[in-house]
Amino acid sequence: MSKYSIKNVHARRVWDSRGRPTVEAEVTLRYGAQGRAIAPAGASTGSGKVVERCDGGFQFGGRGVLGAIGAIKSEIAPTLKGMDVREQIEIDRRLIELDGTENRSPPGGNAIIAISMAVLHAAAAAEKLPLWLYLGPFQGNSDAETLPLPEIQIFGGGAHAARRVDVQDFMVIAIGASSYVQALEWTAEVYRHVGISMAESGRLQGVPDEGGLWLAFDSNEEALETLVRAIEIAGLTPGQDVAISLDIAASQFGQNGHYKLARDERRMDTDELSGMLVDWIERYPIVSIEDPLAEDDPEGLTKFTWAVGRRVQVVGDDFLVTNASRVTDAAKQKACNAVLIKPNQAGTITESKVVLDIAREAGYGTILSTRSGETGDATIMHLGVGWGMAQLKVSSYSRSERMIKWNEGLRIAEAISDVSDHLPPDGNLPPKSSFPWG
Ligand code: PGA
Ligand code: ZN
Repeated sequence: MSKYSIKNVHARRVWDSRGRPTVEAEVTLRYGAQGRAIAPAGASTGSGKVVERCDGGFQFGGRGVLGAIGAIKSEIAPTLKGMDVREQIEIDRRLIELDGTENRSPPGGNAIIAISMAVLHAAAAAEKLPLWLYLGPFQGNSDAETLPLPEIQIFGGGAHAARRVDVQDFMVIAIGASSYVQALEWTAEVYRHVGISMAESGRLQGVPDEGGLWLAFDSNEEALETLVRAIEIAGLTPGQDVAISLDIAASQFGQNGHYKLARDERRMDTDELSGMLVDWIERYPIVSIEDPLAEDDPEGLTKFTWAVGRRVQVVGDDFLVTNASRVTDAAKQKACNAVLIKPNQAGTITESKVVLDIAREAGYGTILSTRSGETGDATIMHLGVGWGMAQLKVSSYSRSERMIKWNEGLRIAEAISDVSDHLPPDGNLPPKSSFPWG
């Protein structure tokens, strides 16, 4: 028995930013070190992803997690007891085994990711190290001395805002910022000026699921124009200092090559939707575009990537569902040139890292991402730094469940400058060459 051996695994039901139940896991080690983590929850679709275990029935719309918590206590806890918490790969392998199938049912993806992250936290706690440092420099990963470049939602639409407009996320990326602190400062100013312009035009109407501003526009393009104007009013140059990034989340409104855009009152086929997006890329300072076509449209995605992949990042989220074999296949077909990595979609910490390594090997851009349902858990920022990620998507610049991640980044930036004296105190961003547009 050592300070690394797992003594107890506990789980409880807590509540996420949408007021829905989710799983919190706690892993306690022999001499008291402890790790804790909460599973996030998404709204976007994508077949082949890990399945969360929900209780079903009427209560909480069927999203209860007591079954998942019961499975942690009855199956996972006895299996992990006595294991060495540093053996993340072996522990995750056991979790996957317990979950059985590729499309998991018991104990469910929500239980598995909470445990997998809590194990990682406990290992860092046993070493008395912050998680980013344990994952990064402590394990010889020297890339972990930079902060990821933030990708931040200003307007939320699609499934996160009662389908008020089709596009799910209108985001900004401070591509010209010289530090993490400056990237946040610029984003704060753009967000503020968009808010002022929405208030002045009487369109400040509500808050979508991830924070941000409600897309009270008659067309998708009005949102793009409002963003460009706000960047300019903030005294920044669109496309040079701050650029636009979109998550089209096209699987939400398209199937079999047919797309139905509610806001623009149009039906489109693959070529028409691609053509509209290429036109936007030409007219607006867009550097990244996620799920431009539906997940069942790989040929369309390949064609789209050939058309614009040298100019912009084409990100697969619902299309790739953080799945290693999908990323491998897509890289061969040159469908997309970047992948969104959502740990709870991959299943475990180990599987997320495998997808990241495969994507990097294939020359794909990689973006670590939160989910639309979040909590006060800031693990993602530690993974972002520890894994040397170039980019991190944490939805909006409002609401505590989002800001807790950005603020954790500020603390890490300070700590990095303490441990490595060549960095400024406000946290370096990765070299521009690690971004597709760098
Ligand atoms: P989700 O949305 O967490 O609801 O899946 C995030 C995204 O689509 O990127
Ligand atoms: Zn997405």
